[in-house]
Amino acid sequence: MLLKSIILVSLCAASSLAGICQDVFKNPSEVRPFFKVFESQGVEIYFPKRDPKQDMFGIKIYKNQDLRKKDLHCDLCVNTTHVEDGCFKIKSTLLSVEPRDVLKYVTLASFTGKPDVSVSPSNKVEFTDYVIPASCVCTEPPTGYCAKASSKITDYRPLFKFHESAGFAAYLPWASSTAAVGLQALKNANFRPGSTAAEQQQKLDLNVDSLGAAAQDGCFSYESSTLRFGLGDYINFVVTGKKTGGEKIRTDPRKVHLRDYFIPSTCSCPANQSNLVKPQKLTRH
Ligand SMILES: *[C@@H]1O[C@H](CO)[C@@H](O)[C@H](O)[C@H]1NC(C)=O
Ligand SMILES: *[C@@H]1O[C@H](CO)[C@@H](O)[C@H](O)[C@H]1NC(C)=O
Repeated sequence: MLLKSIILVSLCAASSLAGICQDVFKNPSEVRPFFKVFESQGVEIYFPKRDPKQDMFGIKIYKNQDLRKKDLHCDLCVNTTHVEDGCFKIKSTLLSVEPRDVLKYVTLASFTGKPDVSVSPSNKVEFTDYVIPASCVCTEPPTGYCAKASSKITDYRPLFKFHESAGFAAYLPWASSTAAVGLQALKNANFRPGSTAAEQQQKLDLNVDSLGAAAQDGCFSYESSTLRFGLGDYINFVVTGKKTGGEKIRTDPRKVHLRDYFIPSTCSCPANQSNLVKPQKLTRH
């Protein structure tokens, strides 16, 4: 019995050693880099080395810039030959990312025997919502997440905080013209187009008529530990509600795809263990 559990434990330990690279790039068609951003502290960027001849991976990142402008400046330009665990890995504290920053980027690659460096078309990644690995332990920011949402997010677009294996939260800045707001959400599914009646028949993963008011600083807020998300998931959401004049609020469905980690500065994450705890897959009901 004891021996059995020792074997089990060591098996688990062995399988959990697979790093972030294996987890994130399981799908061979995934060709974008993976970002692990530590809010206002730095970034890690991973890119799979699928072609043994690829000897360099590089990236040029432009933060909140219009790539058509002439006076572009590179916020982070790095090339690397360093491969760890099957991925090219870049780690830098030179780039500071805050909620709602947009990073436009191109990637570079060179291959042994080929003189030319190939450059990808430009791409972008937005850091609007927090996505936190399961192993990280977070404390509330000093002014709360609501304060972060209030200064950044408008137009009934909540700031979401997804913590793998712990749940999620949504913070929506309070406006004086708004009497109440609700949140409807689907996990890994889309709202059916068509009449409201048809939408109402759809089984929602989350249907909250009225979000509570966050104590400190004037947000509508909602926290759930039962609806969980992990990397690769997406959430489709609609904000509902009522204005003080009685007018109904119902936004179009909007989507958040959890493709990268964005870790609040108040979280601490064990250096090598970000993937030790797998996100739990929720069965849809
Ligand atoms: C990265 O490599 C490209 C192509 O060789 C080069 O033009 C660029 O200057 C390099 N960037 C840095 C930061 O070294
Ligand atoms: C962290 O992981 C890397 C690669 O997976 C490994 O080389 C390194 O030794 C690990 N460090 C610690 C402290 O376990």
